[in-house]
Amino acid sequence: MHIHKFEKIWLILGTVTLVAFLSTIGIQAFTSPDHAPPSDLTTIEPEEVETTAPFDEPGLKKVGENEYELVMILQSFGFTPGEVEIPQGAKVKFIVTSIDVVHGFEVAGTNINMMVTPGHINSMTYTFDEKGSFLILCNEYCGIGHHYMSAELEVK
Ligand code: CUA
Repeated sequence: MHIHKFEKIWLILGTVTLVAFLSTIGIQAFTSPDHAPPSDLTTIEPEEVETTAPFDEPGLKKVGENEYELVMILQSFGFTPGEVEIPQGAKVKFIVTSIDVVHGFEVAGTNINMMVTPGHINSMTYTFDEKGSFLILCNEYCGIGHHYMSAELEVK
């Protein structure tokens, strides 16, 4: 079968375009935040946070061999606790909630980044393989003290 030269070029171009298009959709499906499982499905009464477990005892808790839970409360304009020490190599599940307005929970230099809405409990797990200081900061504007809202995490 004889295919005209230009026809052949268009066929190739068409195929290349289709493949590029499909891979873009495929990549989006895997990277789009909309497809990530939501991390704030658990709800809590903001007024009752400080008397409800695990938030009645914020801080680091060992739950397994080098596995920890770090419970933190966010409020204008700080984190409770404000300083945390974590052993190197620890796998840490952050469990956080806000008792007033929407705050952000970001651990600079990691992929931990959550929008923390009052009434919801957010969680994310991260393994700290390297020693060092990490800054926990609020990355959602929450009022005049927003820029001072931070905490320190030390991996030792
Ligand atoms: Cu809390 Cu910005």
